[in-house]
Amino acid sequence: MTKDLHQLLPSLDSKTADCLGIGIFQYRLSPAERFLKANQSCVRLAGCAIKTELFKIKIRQLFSNPEDYRRWTQLLKDQQRIKLFKIAIKGKNKKAVWVAISACVVQNGKKEKYLHGVMQDISASQKEQERVIQEMDFLQSFLDQMPDAIYFKDRRSHITRVNKFYAKGFRLKPGQIIGKTDFDFFPKAQAKKMLDDDKKVIRSKIPIVGKIERTLLPNGTWNQVITTKVPIFDRQGEVVGTMGITRDMTEHANFEKERFNMLMNALTVLNKALELRDPYTFSHARDVGRIAKIIGKELGFDEDRLIKLKLAADLHDLGKISVPLDILIKPGKLTSLEYSLIQEHVQRCHDLIDEMKFPFKLSDIIYQHHERLDGSGYPNKLKGKEIMLEARILAMSDVLESMTSHRPYRAALGIKKAIAELKKGSGRKYDSKIVKIALGLIKKNHGNPFWLNY
Ligand SMILES: [Fe+2]
Ligand SMILES: [Fe+2]
Repeated sequence: MTKDLHQLLPSLDSKTADCLGIGIFQYRLSPAERFLKANQSCVRLAGCAIKTELFKIKIRQLFSNPEDYRRWTQLLKDQQRIKLFKIAIKGKNKKAVWVAISACVVQNGKKEKYLHGVMQDISASQKEQERVIQEMDFLQSFLDQMPDAIYFKDRRSHITRVNKFYAKGFRLKPGQIIGKTDFDFFPKAQAKKMLDDDKKVIRSKIPIVGKIERTLLPNGTWNQVITTKVPIFDRQGEVVGTMGITRDMTEHANFEKERFNMLMNALTVLNKALELRDPYTFSHARDVGRIAKIIGKELGFDEDRLIKLKLAADLHDLGKISVPLDILIKPGKLTSLEYSLIQEHVQRCHDLIDEMKFPFKLSDIIYQHHERLDGSGYPNKLKGKEIMLEARILAMSDVLESMTSHRPYRAALGIKKAIAELKKGSGRKYDSKIVKIALGLIKKNHGNPFWLNY
């Protein structure tokens, strides 16, 4: 445009030039600086009332910021031209008008230097830009106030924005995080899970809400967090990235853990009391716990589920504390009254554990450990899938341990009889999959109890 201007300027005084919405000017750089030609738009944008007023000032007077003028002169010196240079010109009414100036240096045969240029009013777009910047600043300061890690990512899971809390967690500045991915900050396996979640949110356009996970901190410790990830849409409804909020729940988790440990300590004391009174039931429960845990592992239970299963097994006969000892160790046949008293241990145990308000259904697992798939068990004659998987594991483990160990009232029946009982009851009383695992483990252990070396 500045090149065409060179040809256009000789006719600058014409009415046509004055009608243009864009400012056009010719400015002499040397020997003496001054405006030589300008159209009406240029006069107006420069904050002058009439052309002669403009011809009396030097171009540096248009710059309210000395740093802008320094850059301007440097650019002209280096490149002999300038493109869309933005400045705010303050007119007599002190109201700033934003303009963009493009110009080029022209030299004639007499070594006189001129600047031929155009001036555009960009106040409207500048105002819009300032509004967007203000909104972005507001958003950032809002995000920075939040006591959670907040992060935005593009479709390729590159981080595009984070708040202060996020950056502080990595002891980095936000600028050192932008453009990176989770693989730059987290162990590979963990970053992979995060990437999978991002992809899932982008693909499905459905948020992931309140996912509890563990993350590794820069100091090498793990913390427990709860994360929500949502898709970000553009105006056309296309997903352009994701936004995530992660809250540190470690303190809360530690509190829960402490509460759980307190419960466990109380149960250990209770179990010790049972051991003192009835050592056979105590060792039975301990071995049922071992069998159940091994079976659970074979079934692919995670660590958390295994702890619950083992706990249920350790406590499953705790209710026998209410059964008179002479009945518990009575050799020979029990009367129906005595048998019903023994059966009551299930209800007693359930009520005892239920009072402790465990954060999971421990009492329900224990309540079902004498139920059988065909409905022949007690106390509720539950059938098939009505019985929890954990309770089905306990049922099989209970029978296996009971039949292979000595009792005060009878000698051990032996592993062969136990195998025969499990085979006979497989799919009828006991879960066939669980029986199959147990029989496989016995076989692998050369026909011996596999849990004793555990
Ligand atoms: Fe029992
Ligand atoms: Fe038992």
